[in-house]
Amino acid sequence: QRYRDPEAAEKMNPFAEQEAWEDYQTEKATLKFGSKDKKLASDEYEYVFEDQIEFIRANVMEGENYEEQPPEFTDDSKAKSALEKLQEDRKKLPIFPYREELLGAIETHQILIIVGETGSGKTTQIPQYLHEAGYTIKGKIACTQPRRVAAMSVAARVSQEMGVKLGHEVGYSIRFEDCTSEKTILKYMTDGMLLREFLGEPDLASYSVVMVDEAHERTLSTDILFGLVKDIARFRPDLKLLISSATLDAEKFSDFFDMAPIFKFPGRRYPVDIQYTRAPEADYLDAAVVTALQIHAQHPPGDILVFLTGQEEIEAAEEILKHRTRGLGTKIAELIICPIYANLPTELQSKIFEPTPEGARKVVLATNIAEASLTIDGIKYVIDPGFSKMKSYNPRTGMESLLVSPISKASANQRAGRAGRTGPGICFRLYTLHSYHTELEDNTTPEIQRTNLANVVLTLKSLGIHDLVNFDFMDPPPSEALLKALEMLYALGALNKLGYLTKTGRRMAEFPLDPMLSKMIVASDKYKCSDEVISIAAMLSVGNSIFYRPKDKQVHADNARLNFHLGNVGDHIALLKVYNSWKETNFSTQWCYENYIQVRSMKRARDIRDQLEGLLERVEIEMTSNFNDLDAIKKSIISGFFPHSARLQKSGSYKTVKHAQTVHIHPSSGLAQALPRWVVYHELVLTTKEYMRQVTELKPDWLVEIAPHYYQLKDVEDTTSRKMPKLPR
Ligand code: CDP
Ligand code: MG
Repeated sequence: QRYRDPEAAEKMNPFAEQEAWEDYQTEKATLKFGSKDKKLASDEYEYVFEDQIEFIRANVMEGENYEEQPPEFTDDSKAKSALEKLQEDRKKLPIFPYREELLGAIETHQILIIVGETGSGKTTQIPQYLHEAGYTIKGKIACTQPRRVAAMSVAARVSQEMGVKLGHEVGYSIRFEDCTSEKTILKYMTDGMLLREFLGEPDLASYSVVMVDEAHERTLSTDILFGLVKDIARFRPDLKLLISSATLDAEKFSDFFDMAPIFKFPGRRYPVDIQYTRAPEADYLDAAVVTALQIHAQHPPGDILVFLTGQEEIEAAEEILKHRTRGLGTKIAELIICPIYANLPTELQSKIFEPTPEGARKVVLATNIAEASLTIDGIKYVIDPGFSKMKSYNPRTGMESLLVSPISKASANQRAGRAGRTGPGICFRLYTLHSYHTELEDNTTPEIQRTNLANVVLTLKSLGIHDLVNFDFMDPPPSEALLKALEMLYALGALNKLGYLTKTGRRMAEFPLDPMLSKMIVASDKYKCSDEVISIAAMLSVGNSIFYRPKDKQVHADNARLNFHLGNVGDHIALLKVYNSWKETNFSTQWCYENYIQVRSMKRARDIRDQLEGLLERVEIEMTSNFNDLDAIKKSIISGFFPHSARLQKSGSYKTVKHAQTVHIHPSSGLAQALPRWVVYHELVLTTKEYMRQVTELKPDWLVEIAPHYYQLKDVEDTTSRKMPKLPR
């Protein structure tokens, strides 16, 4: 058998392995991690979150508007028995035997670190236990989640268990969507939303308990929350603080929270046998497909979960699997292929939750969504190629990119654990045991060390935290990145020379957006086009999923799209035209179909826009419309995005004005053929090249007019103009 690596034959559970590894001597890495260590990210930047939300709407909430949802349980006996069944299930969770002990520990200690395996009931049960024990009399219970999809799905689950309507006693809050009410006592929210709550309520007075959940994920917001909640715990002795995590780095959390005690309960129910490849795989995608087929042909029933890095890979794997199973004939059971990635239409996503029919086997091809956020029942086999898409940040240029990179040991163990939830399982790692030990980092680098910090710095400044260097970070960000963020906020006019928040900065902080977008909106006040600019901001916030391009109708779709680009108005104005045209049809779904536009993305843009409109009022910006003055709109955009300017080169590529970085217009842009001499872009995406996405033409004088502190005349002098070749128009 291909996977029987004698060295790895001993059956290990992922946690024992991790512990054993701690005593292991680190050798210097000699083997390359497969042949694809640092493959470029796929062309499709993944807007995972938008789609996860749609996904939950379809699978958990049954309908878009929770208000219109019928109550989950009525008084009839059928509903009662469903509720009773849920109550029985609660008692079967691994955390249940520890209920009293846990409540006792929370009673005695202000801060408690809680460690238990994924699926053991931390997120759904602890807030309920606290509620049952009376903690909600004194205030609400907040439970933070790194992913929006988790906040929504867990809130939905808990509201079912409590037999209440989602949004009433149990609710969730995620960016641009608040599903809570006056009644809400258990509030599931993204870590980013709790961070924003500090702005309105710096001592979190309305909460009696804050549970920072999935702490091991170490997202940027979670890391900032650590510092903030630690601080308020000092002057609010009545506040209980719980830090819960699935992995074993609890000592680190305990150290940070002044030696808070660790409450650890066993959660693993079934062993997982881990198998490695004998030699590194040259092509992990192919290896994953072959492994899936081998399992299907040779192993007992049980579903398969394959971790891939994104849509392109998943589609490729799906194609190959379909092709190869076609030849298998009827001797072998049916293999149901279920892809799950960001841009997959909602109807297809629900397929992964449907129970596998008798005699068939399901293979779920998933991105990292399935690592911790989604629980799929019936998985017995996990195939782990060992890669994921990771954000990385270059503080020098301020550029963020997504790269396919090796995962960490903690991640690998989390993935393996998915095979043992409902019975003993097997995890096939498509790398060698040696690679595992020598090439995988123990833990994923915390996001704070590989991301743009402008947004959190603005939030911290508006919380009155001035001295960022001495902020209580669990792992401090690189000082370069901190400096870069301060510089950027100064350039945007959010901070003054002394690093204090300006009036503009205060207004910007009100918007839950990237500071450049917030600045664009604040600047629209001056140019009297706030109406148009918030539409553009909303459309940009929806991400890359406005236009729909079915494989068999690409020409039609492209023609429809080009209609909005007439006159080379640029991508920002094209988005505005899409929004306004949709509005003119009274938000018609039919119109969306006819124009190859995704209606759910448009609805989301409308929601976001409504909220931005509300925020305009809050920062006292008048709603003014100036659709015919495209220059005014462009100047607002440049007020926020002037650092993202680029100039055309003789070669047809561009160079960013500030950092002289070579970049290109993304083929999906309306200006991809026009190639204007000067452009401003929304974002850079690294695929085969560094691409600018959402591009608009600008006049170089505007840069000096709008950002004289950032650009000088010499930066924008058109010295190359005489030598410019004739370019296709
Ligand atoms: O937080 P932790 O990973 O410890 O577990 P949890 O999220 O509280 O999940 C406990 C159990 O609740 C899981 O094993 C699932 O069976 C169930 N659950 C569910 O059915 N639907 C959800 N959205 C979340 C949890
Ligand atoms: Mg959890």
